Amino acid sequence: MQDSPEALLPESLTHFLRCPTPDAWVAAALANEELLLIDHAQCEKKAASTAMSLMYRYVDRPLLLTKMSQLAREELLHFEQVIKIMETRGVTYRHLSASRYAEGLRREVRTEDPARLVDILIIGAYIEARSCERFARLIPHLDAELAKFYRSLVKSEGRHFEDYLMLARRYADEGGDADVEARIAFFAECEAELINCEDNEFRFHSGLPRAA
Ligand SMILES: [Fe+2]
Ligand SMILES: [Fe+2]
Repeated sequence: MQDSPEALLPESLTHFLRCPTPDAWVAAALANEELLLIDHAQCEKKAASTAMSLMYRYVDRPLLLTKMSQLAREELLHFEQVIKIMETRGVTYRHLSASRYAEGLRREVRTEDPARLVDILIIGAYIEARSCERFARLIPHLDAELAKFYRSLVKSEGRHFEDYLMLARRYADEGGDADVEARIAFFAECEAELINCEDNEFRFHSGLPRAA
């Protein structure tokens, strides 16, 4: 099937994630379209700001600067696209508490550079890969307008995942960090745990919806 998650997602990405999104999350997303869109807008904005903060901190790495600048621009464009869809659907943007997902990953970041940078880049790859997988899982259930938009996002978030992972490996190599694959495996575990744990609040990156 053309729109099956398997057909939409590159194999490298499915392999990178240790577990698929639980069906219960997909059901909760479909039942909470308004929250999904608001938190999605929030995630796009946050993705742009993470990329920009890397540009401020690591000014001596031209490849990182170029990739992050491109990424920030794309994320802001996605942000504008979500806002437009929200507007046409009468969804009002309001502040939402952040899900524990990104914070749960960030907690594990090592403090000294270049290990810190490598960890942030690996986490970036996980956030992008999971977002991409969630868009793909939602597409078969969405109306035509949202499905079309999310198909375009699967492509760009898939590229962002590849870029983050490439940068993580490169700067680990340059920094003499021989254990980057072990670090990736470590974050794979943390990420899968966050995805499979129960969450009180539904968010774009929330875990299992808590049973009512
Ligand atoms: Fe995005
Ligand atoms: Fe992205």
